Order: sequence, then structure tokens, then C-alpha cells
Amino acid sequence: MKFFADSTIKPYLAAKGYSEICEIGASLGENTDKILELGSVSVTIVDPCVDAHLPRKYEGNPRVKIHKGLSLEVLPVLPGAFDCFLIDGDHNWYTVYNELRLIRERGLLKPGGVIFLHDVGWPYGRRDMYYEPERVPPAHRQPYARKGIVPGRSMLDAAGANAQHDNALTEGGPRNGVLTAIEDFVRESGDYVFFRLNQEFGLGVLAKKRPGDRVFSRFRRRARLLNWTGALRRFVRGAQR
Ligand SMILES: C[S@@+](CC[C@H](N)C(=O)[O-])C[C@H]1O[C@@H](n2cnc3c(N)ncnc32)[C@H](O)[C@@H]1O
Repeated sequence: MKFFADSTIKPYLAAKGYSEICEIGASLGENTDKILELGSVSVTIVDPCVDAHLPRKYEGNPRVKIHKGLSLEVLPVLPGAFDCFLIDGDHNWYTVYNELRLIRERGLLKPGGVIFLHDVGWPYGRRDMYYEPERVPPAHRQPYARKGIVPGRSMLDAAGANAQHDNALTEGGPRNGVLTAIEDFVRESGDYVFFRLNQEFGLGVLAKKRPGDRVFSRFRRRARLLNWTGALRRFVRGAQR
């Protein structure tokens, strides 16, 4: 998520005048720090705080609130409503689908708000990853192993990327991956629009359908352009090899 903070997320937050942000999955708080550079925003973090002691890091900062815990335990009781959610927590279908469901059911996103989601591209767009597999009910969990991922290959490989994580054994199919969770949510809810940027493992953007939102359509045009130029660059690089 932090890769997109300066180029995409902060300009959007500033253009829309958003002030209340909820960040699910903050790790060391690097993305949070970038977002806080916008003096007008406050950030509510939902994270188990395993990677860093975030309460200590932000102690005395009145613009940061921390709910130490898992999204699916915190969202059912989280007070208030937010202009924007930044979702970059557990990258699996069950968690992401239910985060979106809870945000919608509890009215946690203010009208005109937007949800950014990281890792909608390879490797976790179509493949589950589990920080702790036993947190996901067995019926909703893919078979998994602590092995790496190779682009273009469904089966895991010890030499692939992210071999330190519990990754689904195969890519694709129903209820597998972050992008699949978003698509299922969009189809079932019927009132959200979705598009994505393909760079840096993929950034998804979800918003309630609102005809005539000019900032949003400008953003959508920019996404199309960036995706198109990215694809062109990859094509030219491939042709040069
Ligand atoms: C990829 S890191 C986040 C990186 C951060 N967004 C950034 O751009 O710097 C994922 C974080 O999500 C946390 N996490 C894992 N499962 C979670 C859950 N169910 N709810 C909230 N946070 C979770 C992890 O502990 C980790 O801190």
C-alpha cells in the first residue's frame, strides 16, 4: 500500500477533503506516516501489532487511534464512520470478503467515501495467503503450504517468492484471493464500482456508485492510462529481449 501513498492515495484524499481514514493492516506504520503528512487527516489503525509496537510509536499523537486486533473482531464493534478505508491486512478471500461485508453492513464508509485495497494483482489477487491459517474457518480455507510462488505457475515452489508465508497450494478458482473476494462482494452488493491499478502488486479502488463524481472519473481515467502505459512498457521490454 505504501508504494501508492504519494502517487495516488494522498492526492486523492486531499482532492476529496477527506479527514477520517481507517487503515487495516499497518505493519510498521510506514504507509500511515505518509498519510499523516496530510495535516488534515486522522488515522484509525486496525492491526494486531505483531510487526511493531504501534501504540508506542504513536503514543501522544492525537491524530492516530489504534485498535490492536484482527479486522474481523474489530470491525463489528468499531465506532464511527470513515471517509476512506485502506485495506492491507490478511490477504485471503475470507478475510477481505468479510471486511467489505462488515464495512457495508455497519455503514462504516461515509457517503462519497472510497476503499483502497492492496494486493489485488499477482501474487495474491487469485491466491490466498494466511498470516495464521487457523484464524480462517477450515471450510473457507484453501489447502496451503509454506512455500514460494512463481509467476505464471499455479503450483507452489520452494524457490518462489514469499516462501515465508502460508500460501494456497494452487492459484485461481472460487473463493481464492483478494481480487476474487472483491469481485464477489461487488457482484453481491450491487451498489459498488471497482477498478484497479496494476503496478506494485495491484491497488484496488472501491466506491459506492455515484453518477457524475468528477474526481472519481478523473481517477478512473488516470488508472486506465497508467495500466495502458504499464502494459505497453512490458510489451516493449518483452520485444527487446
Ligand atoms: C502487508 S502488511 C501491511 C503493510 C502496510 N499497509 C504498508 O503499506 O506499509 C500486513 C499487516 O496486516 C496485519 N494483519 C494481518 N492480519 C490482519 C487482520 N486480520 N486484521 C488486521 N491486520 C492484519 C499484519 O500483522 C501486518 O502488519
